[in-house]
Amino acid sequence: MTVALEKTLADKKILLIISGGIAAYKTPDLIRRLRERGAIVQPVMTPSAQEFVTALTVGAVAAKPVYTDLFSREDEQDVGHIRLAREADLIVVAPATADLMAKLAQGFANDLASAILLARKVPLLIAPAMNPAMWANPATQRNIVLLKQDGVQFVGPEIGEMAESGESGLGRMSEPLSIVAAIEAALVPENLPLAGKRIIMTSGPTHEPIDPVRYIANRSSGKQGHAIAQALAKLGADVQLVSGPVTIPNPVGVHVTHVETAREMLQAVEAKLPADAAVMVAAVADWRTANASDQKIKKNPDEAAPTLSMTENPDILATIGHHHQRPQLVVGFAAETNDLLVNAERKLIKKGADIIVANDVSDVENIGSVMGGDHNIVHIVSHEGIEEWPEMSKEQVAGRLSLLITEKLTK
Ligand code: C5P
Repeated sequence: MTVALEKTLADKKILLIISGGIAAYKTPDLIRRLRERGAIVQPVMTPSAQEFVTALTVGAVAAKPVYTDLFSREDEQDVGHIRLAREADLIVVAPATADLMAKLAQGFANDLASAILLARKVPLLIAPAMNPAMWANPATQRNIVLLKQDGVQFVGPEIGEMAESGESGLGRMSEPLSIVAAIEAALVPENLPLAGKRIIMTSGPTHEPIDPVRYIANRSSGKQGHAIAQALAKLGADVQLVSGPVTIPNPVGVHVTHVETAREMLQAVEAKLPADAAVMVAAVADWRTANASDQKIKKNPDEAAPTLSMTENPDILATIGHHHQRPQLVVGFAAETNDLLVNAERKLIKKGADIIVANDVSDVENIGSVMGGDHNIVHIVSHEGIEEWPEMSKEQVAGRLSLLITEKLTK
């Protein structure tokens, strides 16, 4: 007996743009799986996509004519790229080549696919696929930042072997079922595992003023905290992020409040209670200057250098961990140069947290590789024990941590 698939995408209109990568051979399977779930799929192919899979095959699985040409007289009269761009509930590009991403980032519109993308008013999800060296190239990385700022959603790429060269690395297109899951998440957010959960987060450093122009800060970039906020939002959470001063963009789909000092951060966090979870990633300054001047301190050759007297800042994590409105789940971070796990276990108790994510910054010579860098090695310290995770990118840590948070919040 075959069990009918749930029509999770019933009557959802998906405009699927296929660009020219070898992964295009997977798109007939993607179309089939989308249609099984009730979606109506309108394919558009770039000329180079047709080198990898024929419009005949794609049209047959979609049961639709495939549009390929910006200047086809019949198509333009009958459909028009503007109409194509507007009629869909979601536009999906799979595979998205480096070239198509570059055009999209820069706003080119010299063929049907790029014209549709520029004219769109509906959400866009792309599934990149390219050689790992092309993915890693700074030009592609710049385009990724621009596209994310523009609200473009990504699924993949994954690590794996490339079909054409046997090379291994980041660049392989996500499997059709992963793309289907991302499409369901984009179109039917109430199905997401963290839908309806409110999560308060902190990220970045704090700046503690010495006088109006000088401050005490630390090396935190906000990359790890912002990546976690993004990952939780992708799982459907209502993420309320309180960010210290950072130079990275706000995560997409996250509500962000910007603050400068630890005291402002605490106030903003408390104002966001109640919540289901708190994830405190900010590198909050432990001390502030007790004698901050409200005028710029002048250098005076006749006087000794000024002395800064310090006073303790509030501990935001500990305040939330012991709050009368304590969220069900409280997660903190601990960067330690020594006795990582002993200190993390102490913090778990002292701060009233359920999980401490401990990262080792003992390599003080290379402290910038964690604080401000793109990779992280973490241990998950909880009342159930200690779990060691291998070295991962901050995005991967964020992905895995957000799944752990989902598990704790939904069990
Ligand atoms: O004690 P330590 O600063 O190492 O603790 C780190 C954890 O506590 C992080 O989760 C950080 O966000 C949080 N913290 C805080 N307020 C402070 C100091 C740290 O929320 N004043």
